[in-house]
Amino acid sequence: MPLWYSAGLSGPLARGNPLTRAITRSGLGLCKRVPATMIRTSMLLGLISDIHGNMAALQAVIRDMEAVGAEKVLCLGDVVGYGPYPGECLDLVRRCGAVLMGNHEEALLYGAENFNPRAKRAIDWTRDHLKSDGDEQTRKNRWNILQNLQLHCKVGDFLFTHASPRQPTREYVMPRDVANQPKMDEIFSLIEHVCFVGHTHLPGVFLPDRSFTNPVQLWNQTYFIEPGEKALVNIGSVGQPRDGDRRACYVMLDTDPGSPRALFRRVEYDVEATAKAIEANEFLDDYLAERLRQGR
Ligand SMILES: [Fe+2]
Repeated sequence: MPLWYSAGLSGPLARGNPLTRAITRSGLGLCKRVPATMIRTSMLLGLISDIHGNMAALQAVIRDMEAVGAEKVLCLGDVVGYGPYPGECLDLVRRCGAVLMGNHEEALLYGAENFNPRAKRAIDWTRDHLKSDGDEQTRKNRWNILQNLQLHCKVGDFLFTHASPRQPTREYVMPRDVANQPKMDEIFSLIEHVCFVGHTHLPGVFLPDRSFTNPVQLWNQTYFIEPGEKALVNIGSVGQPRDGDRRACYVMLDTDPGSPRALFRRVEYDVEATAKAIEANEFLDDYLAERLRQGR
């Protein structure tokens, strides 16, 4: 069993577990700033976001991260919303080094007034479901994660947040925004080196020259991080890709100080299993199943 997945951060194993000690030492689990010199050479960080209650997609990504050799995993938010298995997905991300707040967790906790009717109906069902699903300890663990989400975290010079460094949970930075110089300039003024986000479900790399490159346009689907270069990297969505490729998407970040790089990974999963579970749930719009099939 891989290191990152061998124990959760809370629970009986937490205190004495070597993984927990390592995470606490590095500051990753606590989301404090970690000097670059403290990052071990070639540490492989799995970066996942926008799971949206899609358990089959998350399980497939976990298997892939294990195969690639992820040492730690950071989850950039939107574990819940839209999908039929929010509780099971919370159970799985409990093992991550950090879980950040997405707009769907924010809506679940504080209200979904700004959501469209489909998304609001889904998040209202999710909230009710998490209050009744599972035994008492399971419910307690799940709500404990939701109540301890952080807006951002930093590992060395790498910044992680759900949406944007300007507005961590809600701002959309779309590929078309490269034409919006004031917006991009202000966002890059808040980035020291490289910032990783999710939220739009559209993976790719923004640079300050107002370019956007999607993973397919990158050599070997890899973004090689240049020293001192600023970049905003969208890691895509595990559970509801919208770039026309329905496979689950995530990023494996190699923090090797000599050659840091972000590899975009696409993983096949049982799309129909999740789509049919959505269609069987009267509170989830059938459109949400169709968009999984389409990857849009
Ligand atoms: Fe999302």
